[in-house]
Amino acid sequence: MKRVSLETPTSRRPTPTTAAPLTRGGRSTAPAALTGLPDRHGRIATDLRVSLTDHCNLRCTYCMPAEGLEWLPGETLLSDAEVGRLLSIAVTRLGVTDIRFTGGEPLLRKGLADIVAHASTLRSPEGRRPGLSLTTNGLGLDRRLPDLIAAGLDRVNVSVDSLNPERFAAITRRDRLADVLRSLDAVAAAGLRPVKVNAVPIARWYRDDAPALLRHCLERGFELRFIEQMPIGPPEEWDRSTVVTAQMLRDALTDGGFTLADGAQPRGSAPAELTAVSADGLPDGHVGLIASVTEPFCGSCTRTRLTADGSIRSCLFAARETDLRELLRSGADDEAVARRWQEAMWGKPRRHGFDHEGFAAPGRTMSRIGG
Ligand code: 5AD
Ligand code: SF4
Repeated sequence: MKRVSLETPTSRRPTPTTAAPLTRGGRSTAPAALTGLPDRHGRIATDLRVSLTDHCNLRCTYCMPAEGLEWLPGETLLSDAEVGRLLSIAVTRLGVTDIRFTGGEPLLRKGLADIVAHASTLRSPEGRRPGLSLTTNGLGLDRRLPDLIAAGLDRVNVSVDSLNPERFAAITRRDRLADVLRSLDAVAAAGLRPVKVNAVPIARWYRDDAPALLRHCLERGFELRFIEQMPIGPPEEWDRSTVVTAQMLRDALTDGGFTLADGAQPRGSAPAELTAVSADGLPDGHVGLIASVTEPFCGSCTRTRLTADGSIRSCLFAARETDLRELLRSGADDEAVARRWQEAMWGKPRRHGFDHEGFAAPGRTMSRIGG
């Protein structure tokens, strides 16, 4: 059976005007003239993740401590207008074709619908509107959905790690499974397609939870994607030896009665793969296995990330980030801001190196960087 790649086709990517790095003092400097957001390693970022807040109303153990984090000071957060300006620069000058709003929990951002509405007015130089999507924990989404769709939102990913209410409450430290499932059904009823569900498999429970989640999603036509847990939350919550790997998930799903397409074929350069699945009494479908830890897809990464306080992160695991907020607030023009963004991306590391000795986890958690 065939695997479906979620990767942007190479033919749709802009080409950098030059690929030769200039080096000064051991640090690479971006060439003077660049088109889009290329890096030294031949990748081009077209997919922007925007974190709109570091706050969240859940406390997933792999992401945050029970008491939450020290939140970013209010004055450091970008205003709606500042976010809007950066989105305009990204789409009109830097080749960004897809924008995903994340958090923390992006529904906690008051101006979310206004920001989405602004983004939906943007056009690339070729006249193309960016794809607009949201990654959310789903709390309160059912109520907000009509406004967000009216504003131009195209797609939603909802995170659910377990369908068992006690386990969901243990993972998120909040007893809110019913609210999340209600929101998922609202997304489907509103006709947003595909409805995507993200799940981080938890070592103690995945053998039971993974088949249950897949059954639930296939019955409803949702696209389920499992994400291997990455070292980006509280340090004591991650141990390479206890990560539930994509292979362990394949085995658990097979034991749970599913037939998976042969996983042995080379994964190619796709960041996320969909494997065809079938089971008695269920509609055929696909499951995504995102093996960020065991089969890194850094070589084909097309992402650039903007944090809620206005920094560009070229990679979730980059040691450095580049502040755009002060530049914006100092009155810089769009060209100068775009250039700084290009310089940030030019320095994108080749790969994240979880498996290397000396790997240093980033100083920010996922809730501050944006999934
Ligand atoms: N590893 C993998 N996925 C994570 N997420 C949050 N923290 C981690 C982590 N350490 C996921 C959330 C959500 C998305 C934004 O990122 O579960 O689905
Ligand atoms: Fe909130 Fe997402 Fe972190 Fe869970 S993983 S605490 S939903 S930001």
